[in-house]
Amino acid sequence: MSATDTTWTPSAWRQTQAFHQPAWPDPAAATDAVARLRKMPPLVFAGEARNLRAALAEVQAGRAFLLQAGDCAESFNDFSAITIREKLKVLLQMSAVLTYGATLPVVKVGRIAGQFAKPRSAATELVDGVEIPSFFGHTINGDEPTLAARTPDPERMVEAYHQSAATLNLLRAFTKGGFADLNQVHTWNKDFVASSPEGKRYEEFAEGIERALAFMSAIGIDLQAERALHEVDVWTSHEGLLLDYEEALTRRDSITGDWYDCSAHMLWIGERTRQPDAAHVEFFSRVHNPIGVKLGPATSPAEAVALADRLNPDRIPGRLTFIVRMGAEKVHERLPLLLQAIKEAEHTVIWVCDPMHANMIKTKTGVKTRDFDAIMAELDAFFQCCWAEGAWPGGVHLEFTGEDVTECLGGSASVLEEQLSHRYESLCDPRLNARQSLDLAFRVAETMRQRDVFPSRPA
Ligand code: PEP
Ligand code: CO
Repeated sequence: MSATDTTWTPSAWRQTQAFHQPAWPDPAAATDAVARLRKMPPLVFAGEARNLRAALAEVQAGRAFLLQAGDCAESFNDFSAITIREKLKVLLQMSAVLTYGATLPVVKVGRIAGQFAKPRSAATELVDGVEIPSFFGHTINGDEPTLAARTPDPERMVEAYHQSAATLNLLRAFTKGGFADLNQVHTWNKDFVASSPEGKRYEEFAEGIERALAFMSAIGIDLQAERALHEVDVWTSHEGLLLDYEEALTRRDSITGDWYDCSAHMLWIGERTRQPDAAHVEFFSRVHNPIGVKLGPATSPAEAVALADRLNPDRIPGRLTFIVRMGAEKVHERLPLLLQAIKEAEHTVIWVCDPMHANMIKTKTGVKTRDFDAIMAELDAFFQCCWAEGAWPGGVHLEFTGEDVTECLGGSASVLEEQLSHRYESLCDPRLNARQSLDLAFRVAETMRQRDVFPSRPA
């Protein structure tokens, strides 16, 4: 990471092969947008990315759990204080359930404030017999199925920057300004959730937390003075797919002289762009943020080791997270080989399960969905494999929303196939709704309580 930092510049990726980049119809306009973004203030500071890395080092050491969750694709259209607040509520609820239910510190990272670029398996699609570009996320084109909307427009990168800044500003206000205070634990329960079985179970947890706070106060602990009771850190992350944008937001830290991608605290490399010698791995090997990499079922042990060598040669704790997304059946077959190979290569990484992306199904009518049972089955397989290999199951990576949508099947809310059309609002992949998310958090907390039964944790 450091050897060539004195000569490296953020545009070096342009000399390598970059997959899944847009074909801007007017390259000069893209160059101009990038030049303007380069002059904008950073969205996050290097010091914050270092603090997240320190928090993730605790996860890597088996002393904390990562909850990374948010939209598949954020939207320019559906942008308001309310949608951000509702997402944050569910994230805080899930985190309270995991912290209280499994007595584990939870590192909270949103897929938020920058999750705007999507890799697509097909570059074009047919709409009424006309071939138009696929939707690549609002930082590249519009979602409406017309040629005009789908034509990539680099000005959208500038809009994505401003929306990210506004989102981050609100997140900072909510998390530091009283909304995330543990005394508010009841108010995070949303009306439509409160009367459900998960909502009631959450109320019991919230009462338990309140009693614990009252107990601490009664024995003389000054709760007002405890910052951790009144404020939380919610970090931002997105897929670092669009390299024009990531390059423009990459800055040299004045304190350490190291490069940081200041578009988010954490960036991840997607399943389709993780080739060890291509542009994304080259770019993210040079910036010092915490980095994630998605690993699908075809990942070989040698590839996983090559990625760890490239992205974390200095073996810095908290630097590298492997986000495994294999599908429930493949986990048992493939994950142990990766866990063993990484251990043999004397790397330590954070192992996280994304139970969403290899569990996509299409209904008979062609609707993209995911089944809650398959999601839980992949999580169970992940935990079992990690425990069996003596590795710490470090966290979960989810696509969820704070709304009462009907995009994923099942859960105790039992969304049925014929109900999917009631509220299907995702711009891209189907997301867990608020009740399904809470249900999942309770189940993961139960699983993590078993950790003492399993002997080994990474040192
Ligand atoms: C995603 O996280 O939305 C995504 C596209 O995932 P993957 O790269 O794992 O397919
Ligand atoms: Co997705």
